[in-house]
Amino acid sequence: PKLDPFTTLLDLKLGTFDPERGPVQVRTQEDLRGFFQADPPRPDELVYRVMPVPVPTENSEIQCSTTVLEPGTVGDEYYMTKGHFHAVRDRSEIYIGLAGEGCLVLATEDGRHRVEPIREGMVNYVPGGWAHRSVNVGDEPLVFFAAYVGDAGHDYATIERDGFPVLVCRGDDGPVVTDNPHYRP
Ligand code: 6PG
Ligand code: NI
Repeated sequence: PKLDPFTTLLDLKLGTFDPERGPVQVRTQEDLRGFFQADPPRPDELVYRVMPVPVPTENSEIQCSTTVLEPGTVGDEYYMTKGHFHAVRDRSEIYIGLAGEGCLVLATEDGRHRVEPIREGMVNYVPGGWAHRSVNVGDEPLVFFAAYVGDAGHDYATIERDGFPVLVCRGDDGPVVTDNPHYRP
């Protein structure tokens, strides 16, 4: 075996690991320029953090991490992750909702899409070949745990260029899912 067993404590409300196992990835509005339709009004503002449990990036291992996505909007769009296909397209993933209220937007390369809820206790299955983006549609941080095949990797460039088929925006009576006028499959 390449690795020794280990144990880490996950705070099920905050999504933090104790001890922290790898460098926390921070994403601000500026980091999401080009992913939102509008330019970032407050470039330095925190949008989300990813806390990893790093293991070798091989398909014999399982990567996992938590994501904490703040509440907020850029233009009409709720705060969201960049979203990605896995670089190795057929690699799958599981999300477990820990806190807050969110949507998981999924899309295939030929333009099919789905929107699934993310809530405490919900398990979302992301099959291979589906790009995925999470969106915080509530007033509290959205926290979820993710586990995925070790060599999956992340392809952000395709999403940056094409977008997702739909946008999740703040409406008068809550979240509204609309067609993305700039989507190019
Ligand atoms: C992954 C997971 C997940 C995701 C974060 C941040 O494949 O690693 O889907 O951990 O990376 O929620 O989202 P972005 O990677 O799209 O910025
Ligand atoms: Ni992923």
